[in-house]
Amino acid sequence: MTSTNDIRRGFLDYFASQGHQIVPSAPLVPQNDPTLMFVNAGMVPFKNVFTGLETRPYVTATSSQKCVRAGGKHNDLDNVGYTARHHTFFEMLGNFSFGQYFKEQAITHAWTLLTRDWGLSPDKLTATVYHTDDEAFDLWRKIAGLPEHRIIRIPTKDNFWAMGDSGPCGPCSEIFFDHGDHIAGGPPGSPDEDGDRFVEIWNLVFMQYEQEANEITGELPRPSIDTGMGLERIAAVMQGVHDNYDTDTFKALIAASGELTRTATTGDNQASHRVIADHLRTAGFLVADGVLPANEGRGYVLRRIMRRAMRHAHLLGAAEPLMHRLVPALAAEMGAAYPELVRAQPLIEATLRQEETRFRQTLDRGLKLLDEATAGMTAGGTLAGETAFKLYDTFGFPYDLTEDALRAQGLAVDRAGFDTAMAEQKRAARAAWKGSGAKASDDLWFDLVEEHGATEFTGYAADESEGVVLALLKDGTRVERAAAGDQVELIVNQTPFYAESGGQVGDAGTATTDKGARASVTDTHKHLGRVWAHQLTVGVGEIAVGDAVHLAVDHERRGAIRANHSATHLLHAALRERLGTHVAQKGSLVAPERLRFDVSHSSAMSPADLAQVEADVNAQVRANTPVTTRLMTPDEAIAEGAMALFGEKYGDEVRVVSMGTGASEGEGARYSVELCGGTHVAALGDIGLLKIVGEGAVSSGVRRVEALTGEAARAYLSARDDKLREAAAVLKSSPDEVPARVAALIEDRRRLERELADAKKALAMGGGTGNAAAGPEQVGGVNFIGQVLDGFEAKGLRGAVDDAKARLGSGVAVMVAVNDGRASVAVGISEDLLASHNAVDLLRRAVAVLGGQGGGGRPDMAQGGGPDGDKAAEAVAAVRAALDA
Ligand code: ALA
Repeated sequence: MTSTNDIRRGFLDYFASQGHQIVPSAPLVPQNDPTLMFVNAGMVPFKNVFTGLETRPYVTATSSQKCVRAGGKHNDLDNVGYTARHHTFFEMLGNFSFGQYFKEQAITHAWTLLTRDWGLSPDKLTATVYHTDDEAFDLWRKIAGLPEHRIIRIPTKDNFWAMGDSGPCGPCSEIFFDHGDHIAGGPPGSPDEDGDRFVEIWNLVFMQYEQEANEITGELPRPSIDTGMGLERIAAVMQGVHDNYDTDTFKALIAASGELTRTATTGDNQASHRVIADHLRTAGFLVADGVLPANEGRGYVLRRIMRRAMRHAHLLGAAEPLMHRLVPALAAEMGAAYPELVRAQPLIEATLRQEETRFRQTLDRGLKLLDEATAGMTAGGTLAGETAFKLYDTFGFPYDLTEDALRAQGLAVDRAGFDTAMAEQKRAARAAWKGSGAKASDDLWFDLVEEHGATEFTGYAADESEGVVLALLKDGTRVERAAAGDQVELIVNQTPFYAESGGQVGDAGTATTDKGARASVTDTHKHLGRVWAHQLTVGVGEIAVGDAVHLAVDHERRGAIRANHSATHLLHAALRERLGTHVAQKGSLVAPERLRFDVSHSSAMSPADLAQVEADVNAQVRANTPVTTRLMTPDEAIAEGAMALFGEKYGDEVRVVSMGTGASEGEGARYSVELCGGTHVAALGDIGLLKIVGEGAVSSGVRRVEALTGEAARAYLSARDDKLREAAAVLKSSPDEVPARVAALIEDRRRLERELADAKKALAMGGGTGNAAAGPEQVGGVNFIGQVLDGFEAKGLRGAVDDAKARLGSGVAVMVAVNDGRASVAVGISEDLLASHNAVDLLRRAVAVLGGQGGGGRPDMAQGGGPDGDKAAEAVAAVRAALDA
């Protein structure tokens, strides 16, 4: 028997030997097509090569492309498990010619490989051609020698292949394998073609045209070839079985499922095992390509698939989560051809286990409700849409799971009723939102979310992706197009741009279209938590609703934001370690140029604290360990030691970001575990360097730390270094000596100031304008010195009075210093005179003359002042007069 792995290899090797480049499968999430949910054909990754938008270093290629058909246009989900050939995941083998060869060579290759290399009997093969394609008809006669009745002209779309409503397309020719007359069915084009006897195994598309909105708009630059052969189908043919699920790969997966559940894999259980095997492949490959279960978009398709399989595991009686235990069998079967499966194996297992553990918490109760609701119903009955909605809303049953669960009993679900219940819930949510005092403009965002659903954020995995323009808003009003110079808000179905939240600023970058429009995105915001609005300024051309736009985040800016965000988490952990677990986040700003982090802490952090925190963070940065993100329930996250914001409302699913090693708290051995929706570095080394540049108070009990990372930190330190050198040059010293030199200079300056003050005082004492320059006099029986000191600093006045008192031994001294027209006055009285004299009383007389008020002190020393400096001598005279009285 030829194994599936051998067939895949054989196909690629054949075309490689014919000069084709073997191109590895592209990821399941389309990189170049915004309208597709998942890659669903081998040609998708080559779309732009066919249309001439992109050139590659080869003109012929071959691939085995991973495909998923489980959402959007081609949806095979409902039938999977119940038929021989429906899958949600399959592999498409293909050979491609980008203008190099055309129909003749394509048919020759197909025929040679099938009949010569793989030894299929020509008698078993039938070809179809598009009814007007005489050329292909003649080629099949010439190359394969097929009799005319086995070259069937098909006039329908079946033989005109198109990627979608838009894109490359052309007539095609399909090759059918006849599984034999023991199976009912007729050849293609016959009345009983729907039977299973003739199975299409290979489709050769003669790519010639390009279409838009289902209309052919032009010819491709050169006629090209795109072929697609379902690996599962050709494996069935080559392994002599009729059913894809009887091929080696599926048999191995089904056997594993049978073993783990200890159930027979045939009879009543057959469909369940098939569902499990198919969905295991889809879930495994999607997770390996970065899709995680979610409530919107691709993530919801994955969740639907996972939960459908999980219900079948439950049906088989599996008491514990099953799916994750089947991943080793999947990796064993397919890991050699797709190494990503092995690389992501731990993530695939953890994701499946978590999803199944959680789903099991409500699965039983939901199924019980379903049983009650359908009790007494007979085949042909219909379950109320409201019940299906309740199962969806309360028990997490995707709509198609409910449908699938009722299938065996021949019951249907009232889809319209389900949709009505869903619409009613949305209406109630809108009303509740409005009741909370939201702005009138929120209506617009509700309308958008209802029309188009939530924006899918692709920016964790990539900085660039394509999106379809769903709406444009100018000054809050919807417009159809935006021309050069216009400033609008852009809403797309999917975007790599991070919308401002959790302290992280919105992304900036560019939006361009194939039609030549260029616009800059200056900021990104989120509305209702679900709709992304890009602030857009159109530079060149025009952007219209319906256009495909290429969205590219400013890579460097995003890199700096990532570094600052991860550094903030490390800072948080380091502060808690150093200062205590009372330290909790109170606010955060993560911008490209810096980070700011506010925490609860009552006093200023010491330089030693900050130095230690900075050193701890940088030690983690240098260890360069990878940052991991996982989705889990809030309870699971907290159990893992995640730091959650108290009082914050979380959804039923949170993203947990873990980084570093050596936790001081919490369960895991990670340095930091936080709930966070932001973008982070892949490994801590990407932060480069953290430098704390500020610490201060924000409000009582809240401190703010400001820091820089990466290039900003380097530039900051470098600028500091330059300043130090400049200072050293001015000081004529080396940078190392600067502190000592500055200290010495300050000491010098203090000394000089002291000397200067003394000199001024001496000068003033000598040259005062009072009448006591020549020494004390006797007034009213006491020694008296009265002086006016021009230009004398007020703060030296008290010292001057003390000096005078010392000189007098016993007596009264009054000094008035005049500076800038203002007067300051001090009066001093020796101890022995305090019984009869009071400095405060005398001072008041002087102050009154100087036009001042108040003043005071002790009985032996009082000070005051007034605005009338020119009355200084009069003030001295007033004191003398008082003594004399
Ligand atoms: N693109 C062609 C198909 O998917 C080959 O059938």
